[in-house]
Amino acid sequence: MSTPDVPRDVGTGNKKLLSWVEDMVTLAEPDSVHWCDGSQEEYESLSLKMVESGTLIPLNPEKRPGCFLARSDPNDVARVEDRTFICSENEVEAGPTNNWMSPVIMRQTMNELFSGAMRGRRMYVVPFSMGPLGSHIAHIGVQLTDSPYVAMSMRVMTRMGQSALDVLGDEGTFVPCMHSVGAPLKDGQEDVPWPCNETKYIVQFPEERSIWSYGSGYGGNALLGKKCFSLRIASVMARDEGWLAEHMLILGLESPQGEKTYVAAAFPSACGKTNLAMLIPPNGYQGWTVSTVGDDIAWIKPGEDGRLYAINPEAGYFGVVPGTSMETNPNAMKMMEKDTIFTNVALTDDGDVWWEGKGGEIPDHLIDWKGNDWTPNSNELAAHPNARFTCSTLQCPSADPAWDDPNGVPISAFIFGGRLSNTFPLVYESRGWQHGVYMAATMGSEATAAADNQAAIRRDPMAMLPFCGYNMADYWKHWLSLENKLSDAPKIFRVNWFRKDAEGNFIWPGFGENMRVLEWIVNRVNGRGPADDTPIGIMPKYEDITWEGLDFSTESFSNIMTVDTEAAMQEANAQESLFNSFGERLPAELEKQRQDLKARLIE
Ligand code: OXD
Ligand code: MN
Repeated sequence: MSTPDVPRDVGTGNKKLLSWVEDMVTLAEPDSVHWCDGSQEEYESLSLKMVESGTLIPLNPEKRPGCFLARSDPNDVARVEDRTFICSENEVEAGPTNNWMSPVIMRQTMNELFSGAMRGRRMYVVPFSMGPLGSHIAHIGVQLTDSPYVAMSMRVMTRMGQSALDVLGDEGTFVPCMHSVGAPLKDGQEDVPWPCNETKYIVQFPEERSIWSYGSGYGGNALLGKKCFSLRIASVMARDEGWLAEHMLILGLESPQGEKTYVAAAFPSACGKTNLAMLIPPNGYQGWTVSTVGDDIAWIKPGEDGRLYAINPEAGYFGVVPGTSMETNPNAMKMMEKDTIFTNVALTDDGDVWWEGKGGEIPDHLIDWKGNDWTPNSNELAAHPNARFTCSTLQCPSADPAWDDPNGVPISAFIFGGRLSNTFPLVYESRGWQHGVYMAATMGSEATAAADNQAAIRRDPMAMLPFCGYNMADYWKHWLSLENKLSDAPKIFRVNWFRKDAEGNFIWPGFGENMRVLEWIVNRVNGRGPADDTPIGIMPKYEDITWEGLDFSTESFSNIMTVDTEAAMQEANAQESLFNSFGERLPAELEKQRQDLKARLIE
């Protein structure tokens, strides 16, 4: 049944949605409104429009069928953490690791900035589901945007369009995500290929569960289903509702005997998450299959059986391109062969794309990511270091059969890691849940790629530093509280692929060889695999790891596993300032874990 005030041609009778869209149209004053249905025809017409406007360059159909290149404004190339705000009612709710601003003031600022912000442009209404359609773990969002590049990317990255509206139904709730590039066009004013604004705001209102993003068209600033919704807002929902929204990849590991184990892993940016998510086992691992559920985000809920079940809320990949090669990530290379949007890579003379670290011959001439001529003698990079590919999961050769399963996959282990050149071993297991949460809370990467012992660690608890939508101390408390809600809690591990020897060389070959560490983890969670109990945690011995096909000596193993007691003590002491910054809100269990570690190191 429809009522007269409900337009019938937009695919929904959800009054809350219709009236919000109406309000936002009144505020931003777009020239026209398009409700995205998510169809292939719509995708193609969006791409055509952007080819005409110069936002997209079609690549050579013989070499990269269905692929496009976008070049962003040079001032709009990455997430802007210093312009990201958590606007909770009280500052303490945002905590010391987030930028906070009063929601009253921020709402006023947003109203001013968005007033008339879409003039001369079309507003796209982008309904999307984060997670498999209709899954009890999934949630619906609706993004309003004046960027066709964003609308098109959302179709790749999420389940977008009419199917999401159908799940929403007339009464369902959604997270409203308001986005503008902040570049209204005056009458007759010519557009630029990548409109944006020097002023940028990425704003989350956690109590209201809404998102406002202004001034940027790039990645996590603009594809609001990703970091803003799936991590910042969802972490708040997860706290309130008893689940976890994490910055984690999800991997399936199937042994030659057909035993399937799923693990979720968190790493700070620039630690090779996408490569690990698509790992191909090396020689010596015949019969093992590694499959990908997700490469960036996991939503994890307790199941009735007392285990945790995870979905990947996304439906596509927005991966870093530079450094991707047939050596480092053959699956990603295959994914990018067709139907991919490249952003900020270089263009070859024959209409293909190129980037640093691609492997093979370096072309004599390119057009770089800024649109300038480039030769191997140029001083500038041809591709921006944060250049990206946007590509559907349907194209991932290693996609797990359950990647779209509404019930999610059972998680047996959490793996946490950072980029650390010393002290931290290749792998160790926590002595229990609380110790594991402590290990994850104190993780981080070196601020600079330094080989000496002085390199400062930029703490990145659970790899959530820029993504936790509330006070990190409360987030740790939430993690700690899960132990009692689960009869079969995952085991917790720390890994470090980046340890260096005395000469400053990486000790561990990484990439596919990480399978050797994963196998030990799988053995441990399935009740196998002997291990040594050490002061810092449970560790494998040399003979506990499969070495077939890799020449890795006992000496190298000792170099990568040995923890110097003094360095470990220094590290435990250095964690004090992190903990102190949370004052009284720090869960006592975590400080106790730190003290217990120090006591074990002295013993
Ligand atoms: C990302 C990040 O882009 O974590 O996924 O920075
Ligand atoms: Mn990420």
